Amino acid sequence: MHSNDKETLFKEALGNYPTGVTIVTVTDDEGTPFGLTVNSFASVSIDPLLILWSIDHKVSSLDAFKHSDRFAVHILAGDQQQLCQRFASKGTDRFGESNWSMSELGLPVLDDAFAVLQCKKYNQVEAGDHTILIGEVADISIAREKEPMLYHRRCFGAIPSQFYGE
Ligand SMILES: Cc1cc2nc3c(=O)[nH]c(=O)nc-3n(C[C@H](O)[C@H](O)[C@H](O)COP(=O)(O)O)c2cc1C
Repeated sequence: MHSNDKETLFKEALGNYPTGVTIVTVTDDEGTPFGLTVNSFASVSIDPLLILWSIDHKVSSLDAFKHSDRFAVHILAGDQQQLCQRFASKGTDRFGESNWSMSELGLPVLDDAFAVLQCKKYNQVEAGDHTILIGEVADISIAREKEPMLYHRRCFGAIPSQFYGE
């Protein structure tokens, strides 16, 4: 039986909305890296170059993101399912099990993403049980030979080939 209460309908509608998948990373004051899997990422503005994502107040790295003046968004490639799950699961050694390096901007950058956007924090806005983090893009790298990951109804993977037509 499907429930028709508004929250259930909201989750059903939004859960069916296809997105890409990102991992957003940051360091705390001691330089320890933190990160999580995120699909609330969106483009906001061209002038200046702004993006946003939102973080649940329950996430353990909330304070690191709220206190830092920067963060890095990795748009995952279609073959990065393992990384996607690692950064969404409790009790995994997210950075210990992953290949990454510290960037010149002092941000933990994971290897092999489709694209990496290193951002200076532009604004943060409290919104219900999440905080919206808006970033101004300071540096972008793209692996043009790769394709991004697709996420839909809790399934994720490479973009199906028929997507592109001929
Ligand atoms: C595909 C996917 C998208 C997610 N998007 C978000 C998001 O936009 N914001 C968020 O706060 N959590 C999001 N999550 C959940 C977080 O990844 C998860 O709660 C987080 O890794 C928990 O971190 P913690 O163990 O450090 O608290 C998403 C999870 C998945 C699998």
